[in-house]
Order: sequence, then structure tokens, then C-alpha cells
Amino acid sequence: MRKVQMELVHTRYDIFIEPGILSSLGKIVHKVAPHEQCALLADESVYRIYGQRAKQALREAGYNVVVGLQPVGENNKTLDTVGDLYKVLLDAKLERRSPVISLGGGVNGDTSGFVAATYLRGVPFIQCPTTLLAMVDASVGGKVGVNVVQGKNLIGSFYQPRAVVIDPQVLASLPAREFRCGLAECVKHAMISDAGLFDWMEGNRNRILQLDGEVLEELIERNVAIKAGIVGQDEKEHGVRALLNFGHTFGHAIETTAGYGVVEHGEAVALGMIAVTRLAVCEKLCSEETFVRLAALIEKLGLPTRVALAPVPELLRAMTMDKKIIDGRIRLVLPQKVGAATITDSVAEEHITEAWKSIEK
Ligand SMILES: NC(=O)c1ccc[n+]([C@@H]2O[C@H](COP(=O)([O-])OP(=O)(O)OC[C@H]3O[C@@H](n4cnc5c(N)ncnc54)[C@H](O)[C@@H]3O)[C@@H](O)[C@H]2O)c1
Ligand SMILES: [Zn+2]
Repeated sequence: MRKVQMELVHTRYDIFIEPGILSSLGKIVHKVAPHEQCALLADESVYRIYGQRAKQALREAGYNVVVGLQPVGENNKTLDTVGDLYKVLLDAKLERRSPVISLGGGVNGDTSGFVAATYLRGVPFIQCPTTLLAMVDASVGGKVGVNVVQGKNLIGSFYQPRAVVIDPQVLASLPAREFRCGLAECVKHAMISDAGLFDWMEGNRNRILQLDGEVLEELIERNVAIKAGIVGQDEKEHGVRALLNFGHTFGHAIETTAGYGVVEHGEAVALGMIAVTRLAVCEKLCSEETFVRLAALIEKLGLPTRVALAPVPELLRAMTMDKKIIDGRIRLVLPQKVGAATITDSVAEEHITEAWKSIEK
């Protein structure tokens, strides 16, 4: 079994990675939150495939399991869903010490985590992420929350789980496009902090895309370790955690202007990373060679490198709407080379325009 430890100022917990570990879910939950009752809050379509296994594992550990299902999709990451899930917990009279377990991708993890953080002012929370993106990104770091009509992720909290349980075997049923979106976040981690991981992904790209078991485990472990390391230094995003926004300011502008769902988040991040690396080249912060290597890896992983874009003024406006803006200035994470990046809020506007042009179809 592979294990990454999350060390924070006020708490620490383990992130377990092992093929087949879903069948031991109950044992792990029982170690960190023993009780006679628990709630399994799951993505509806994930529940159809893995729900019985998860429920059985929890029952074997002595839990009486209450199930709450979340309809699939980003549109259901809402306060309405939170209300429905509260009702399930209240009707079952779940108590302060009853754990809540999420089973699904980032949508379900963020929503269930918010439910766990607020139900009775907080109950033990265990994440069981089932998409690559949720395994390497969303389930690590304790950000939970939901969307409102005014914007994505505007309501939420920092709430750390007691454990994260990752079974790479569940990726076998994940649609290929979703899998590739998770790879974009892996490329992000490599670009901002681990040149060795970047080399390794270049060398193993075929085995990654074939879902080779050993390679997947290593991919997940290395990426979880990077994210856990960054969050461990800066849990509430006052400094270094902002590096994780690499590619995201351009990416969010693509997502909003294209209309959510047209370009997937991971695809927008892949395009955003290319654009911001072009910007870094224009700003003489990084070499053309780094740009070429990044674009080549993204392409080989089956992610887009060009896209039909909205007019540049509209894109610029969308960039300034990002919630990571401080005092009206766009803060961008710019790469210096593979494995190193820096944060800046002063770049030439014509370079931003040039960056947009570099990914336009
Ligand atoms: N909390 C954080 O730090 C953080 C970080 C990054 C992203 N996020 C959030 O994560 C969300 C995106 O998460 P996502 O990409 O996992 O999307 P998702 O949860 O919508 O899952 C994508 C799709 O895959 C399906 N699915 C999930 N696992 C499956 C499996 N094993 N087999 C078959 N189908 C499966 C789901 O039903 C869904 O249709 C966004 O809401 C984003 O804001 C949060
Ligand atoms: Zn992202």
C-alpha cells in the first residue's frame, strides 16, 4: 500500500492509495471515526457501479449505513443538493460522531465535504475520490463548497478529512475524457514544482494512457505528495498554495466565455498552461524550449493545445472576474522553467494578448 501523510498545523491524516482498497473502506473509516452509524454520500452514477461494494465494506466494519445520492454534474454542486443531503442525515438522526463518507468525483467530494463541515457544526469526513482529478487534486487539501448563480465555488469552507481512500482500479470505468482532464492537473503539479515528474510523465505517457496499474499508482502517489506538500506549507492559501492556480486564470476565462461544459475544466487548464507559458516567454522569464516541451506533453496526453476563442477583450474581462484577483490586479503564476514557477501581478497587456493568440484555433 502507498501512503502519503498530510501534515497541517492543527491536524494530520493519511491518504491511502491501493488497488482494491474500496473493499477495505470500512476498516479505514472505523480506525479514524468509530461509531455504529455512518452516511455514504455518493455521486449517483458512481454509486450504481461501486455503491454496493462500498456499502458492504462499511457494513462489515459494523456500520449501519445511510445512503444519500447526489445527481451527476457540476450543475448539482449547489445549496439545494446540500439541503437534500442534510435531510437524509437528519431523518436518519446521524450524530456528532457519525462519519460522512464521500464517493465520487470532485463535485461530490466538494459538496459532501461542505455537508460534513456544517452538519451539527462538523462531523468526521472521509473522502473516497473516484476521478483522477479528484484523486490528485480536489480530495487533497480540505477545500469544500458549492456553486451559486453568482459563480463557482463561492460558498465553502476549509474542512480537512480524517482520511482519503484512493482505489486506482475505479479509474477503469472513468470516461477517457475525464481521465485526461485529471492528467492536466498532474502536468500542472510537475510544471510548478517537480521537473522529475515531468520527465517521468514524458517517458511513461503511453503506459499512463493505457491505465497501467503500477504506473497509475505512482502517478497518483507523486501528485498527491506534491499537492499535500504545498497545502502543508500554506493551508489557507496566503502564499505558496497560489502556485496551484498555474494555468487557471486563463483556463477560467476559457471556461466562462465558452460556456461551462463546452470546454472541460482540465482541457481549459491545459490550454491555460500553454497560454501563460507563452506569456512567460514574452516576458523573458522562461525559454522557448520550455514552451515547446509543455505543449508537446499536453498534446501527447490527448489534451487540446488550441481552441476557438471569444474575442480578446471579452477574454480579458473574464480574467479580471476571477475570484483570485487582489485589489483589481490580475495575479498570474508564470513558469520559469519545467519544475519552477513564480507569482506576479505586473505583465504587459500586449503580452497577454499574444498569449491568447498562441492557443487560438
Ligand atoms: N476542492 C478542491 O480543492 C478542488 C480542486 C479541483 C477541483 N475541484 C472541483 O472538482 C469538480 C470537478 O471534479 P471532477 O472532475 O472529478 O468531476 P465530477 O465529479 O463531475 O466527475 C466527472 C464525471 O465522472 C463520473 N465519474 C466519477 N467517477 C467515475 C468512475 N470511477 N467511473 C465512471 N464514472 C465516474 C461522474 O459521474 C461525472 O459524470 C469541480 O466542481 C471543481 O470545482 C475542487
Ligand atoms: Zn483545476
